[in-house]
Amino acid sequence: MSEPIIRVSCVKHTYPDRTEVHICGLDFVVEKGQRVVVLGPNGCGKSTLLFHVLGLLEPREGDVSVFGVNPARHFNRIRERVGVLMQDVDEQIIAPTVWDDVSFSPRSYGYDAAEVDRMVERALERVGIAHLRHKVCHYLSGGERRKVALAGALVLEPELLVLDEPFQGLDPASRADLVGLLNQLHRLHGVTLVIATHDVNIVKAMADAVYVLAGRGEIVAQGTPDDVFRDAARLKQSNVEPPVLAELFQRLEQMGVSLGRPLAVEEAARVLWEWGSRGARGVAAPPTRAPAEGAPPVAPARPSAPPSSSSQPTLPLERSTTTGEDE
Ligand SMILES: Nc1ncnc2c1ncn2[C@@H]1O[C@H](COP(=O)(O)OP(=O)(O)O)[C@@H](O)[C@H]1O
Ligand SMILES: [Mg+2]
Repeated sequence: MSEPIIRVSCVKHTYPDRTEVHICGLDFVVEKGQRVVVLGPNGCGKSTLLFHVLGLLEPREGDVSVFGVNPARHFNRIRERVGVLMQDVDEQIIAPTVWDDVSFSPRSYGYDAAEVDRMVERALERVGIAHLRHKVCHYLSGGERRKVALAGALVLEPELLVLDEPFQGLDPASRADLVGLLNQLHRLHGVTLVIATHDVNIVKAMADAVYVLAGRGEIVAQGTPDDVFRDAARLKQSNVEPPVLAELFQRLEQMGVSLGRPLAVEEAARVLWEWGSRGARGVAAPPTRAPAEGAPPVAPARPSAPPSSSSQPTLPLERSTTTGEDE
C-alpha cells in the first residue's frame, strides 16, 4: 500500500493562553482518494487538527506528515497540492469580485493572463457559479460565498481539499447541494477530502472513513460510518449525538431484533418492511422494554398482513436529514 497522504501521530499543542489540545489515541491517517470526516462536538479540537495538517500550527509534541513533509516547516513545497475551505469564508475571501478572488492564487503564482482566465473559468464551472463571475462577493448569499471560496480553493486543482465545518449555517438545500458537489469532485477528479464537522447527518452521504474526536482532541473511534455508528451509546458518551437511525437500530438490537445498522432512510425502510413482513408470518414479538436502560415501552408496530404491492407502509420513523447522497 502506498504511503498515506496525511499522518498525524499524537500531536500536542498549547495555545498562548495555555489551553492544551492533545490529539492522541489513534493516529489520524488519510489515504489517497479517501473522503474522511472528522466528527466531534464543538471545542474538541477538530480545527486544531486541521491547522496542524495545514501547517498553520506546529505541535509541541508529536508528528505531522502531509505528502511526506512536515507542513509547519515546508508547506511551500505542497501548497499547490492542498486546497482549503476555512470555517469562516469571509476571512478567506479577500477580493471584491468573484473573478478577482478566484483568480488570486494563479495570478500570484505568475500564470499568464490567458491561463489565469482558463483556470478561473474551470474552477467556477466546477463549483457551478460561472454566472456569478462578475458579482461583488459582499452581496452574495452565505452559500454562494462558500462556493466562491471553494472555487478559490480548487483553482490550482489540488489533490487534497481540507474543509472546516463547510455545512455550518447552510439551509438544507444548500447543504445537499454542497454535499453533491464535493462528492462529484471526489468521483470525477479523485480529490481527497478531509472534512471537519459536528453534523453526524452528512457522514453517511459522504464519508469513506470517520474519525471521532472527544474531550480535548482524543481520537476515540475510527472506521467506516457503519463501524463508527454501531455503538451509538459510546458515541453519546463522547458527546457526539449519533444519527437517529443508528440509535433506533441499536435500541431494537437490545430488544432482541437485530436488523443491522442502516443509516439511510431508504435502507432502514426496506429492512423494517422486510422484518415486518416476516413478523406477520409468525416471528415472535420482541420485548416491549429495553432490558438495560429501562426505556419507555416501545410497541413494535408490524403489519398484520403483508402489504399490497400498490400501497406503501407507514413507518414510525422521523425523516433523516441525510442529504445529497449521490452514490
Ligand atoms: N487561539 C486559541 N487560543 C486559545 N484556545 C484556543 C484557540 N483556538 C482554539 N482553542 C481552544 O482549543 C480547543 C479546541 O478548539 P478547536 O480546535 O477550535 O475545536 P473545534 O474545531 O472542534 O470546535 C477549545 O477548547 C478551544 O477553546
Ligand atoms: Mg472548529
